[in-house]
Amino acid sequence: MTSGTSRQLHPPPGGGGKEKGHGTLRLPPDAAGIARAAEMVRAGGLVAMPTETVYGLAADATSPDAVARIYAAKGRPSFNPLIVHLPDIETARHLARFSPEAEALAASFWPGPLTLVVPPGPQHGLAPAVTAGLPTVALRVPAHPVARALIAAAGRPLAAPSANPSGRISPTTADHVLEGLSGRIEAVIDAGPCPVGIESTILAVTETGVRLLRPGGISPETIREKTGIELLGPQGKAVLAPGMLHSHYAPHAPLRLDVTAPPPGAVHVGFGPDRPGELTLSAEGDLAEAARNLFAVLRVADERAARRGAVITVAPIPRRGVGIAINDRLARAAAPREAPES
Ligand code: TXA
Ligand code: MG
Repeated sequence: MTSGTSRQLHPPPGGGGKEKGHGTLRLPPDAAGIARAAEMVRAGGLVAMPTETVYGLAADATSPDAVARIYAAKGRPSFNPLIVHLPDIETARHLARFSPEAEALAASFWPGPLTLVVPPGPQHGLAPAVTAGLPTVALRVPAHPVARALIAAAGRPLAAPSANPSGRISPTTADHVLEGLSGRIEAVIDAGPCPVGIESTILAVTETGVRLLRPGGISPETIREKTGIELLGPQGKAVLAPGMLHSHYAPHAPLRLDVTAPPPGAVHVGFGPDRPGELTLSAEGDLAEAARNLFAVLRVADERAARRGAVITVAPIPRRGVGIAINDRLARAAAPREAPES
């Protein structure tokens, strides 16, 4: 973990909003940094925290004002609900109703990169905007020690979407967070790059089965192996996953997928020893490494493409394991632009 330095500024964390000239603090991932961040969150502030998947923009999920500030800072449409981050499954059971399937999934994959969409309990206490009017709530128990420490120190559930402006590329470093949100949030805890690099797998646990809403860090094969649960495919994005609009993770330059012969001048992103590029997701062809590198490489490719007025091309990535999620994100990055989302 890297350790940044904390400047001695005191931006008003809550209601007062940010004063002119006060930047976003970069906090170290140590006890003092986490205590400071927890104080900001308890006062209604916004703090970007590292998780094992991507950096999340965390706020007190029980505070309507704090949750409203998340939507405002990201420019996120109000119909797109947030994931609530919790310390453990016991806390999750207090907030929501857990079927035997939800129990099995949580037992196998929490803490870790899995989000469960389940019916909320009668006394969940979450701000209404967290669920954006849906009859379900998305819950996750993250594995990253700094996220876990912040959740524990804040002592409340944390709503946290990816810490990027709506529709743009997700952040896997504190620098990425600051590029997009500096000045709009109180602080970022800098714990270096995220180890998984791609967002959590989202599963909706329904009465008719478990549906994959977003492929992510945990693959359908792994879910089947560990729990015996066979996933239903994605369906009806408008109903089940309001955030999964087609265009997302959008670089500024046009992006083309599955390219084996890049046109002259293109910023080509390779994969594996047989398909090198001027950039690569993994020179060795390792899918976990490709997931870790994906968003950072897309950012660099986008800068170069803008400078050269070029397109970005990406070599074929195998559609197995975490490769399924990589292809999902690349397809969204390549899609024609629609209204932005998370
Ligand atoms: O790995 C992750 O999941 C990261 C880290 C920070 O935890 N978070 C993340 O949040 O990716 P976000 O907001 O960028 O993506 C959450 C997705 C959105 O597509 C949203 O629509 C969907 O989850 N979602 C949230 N609540 C839902 C619900 N009740 N039903 C269906 N989809 C939901
Ligand atoms: Mg997001």
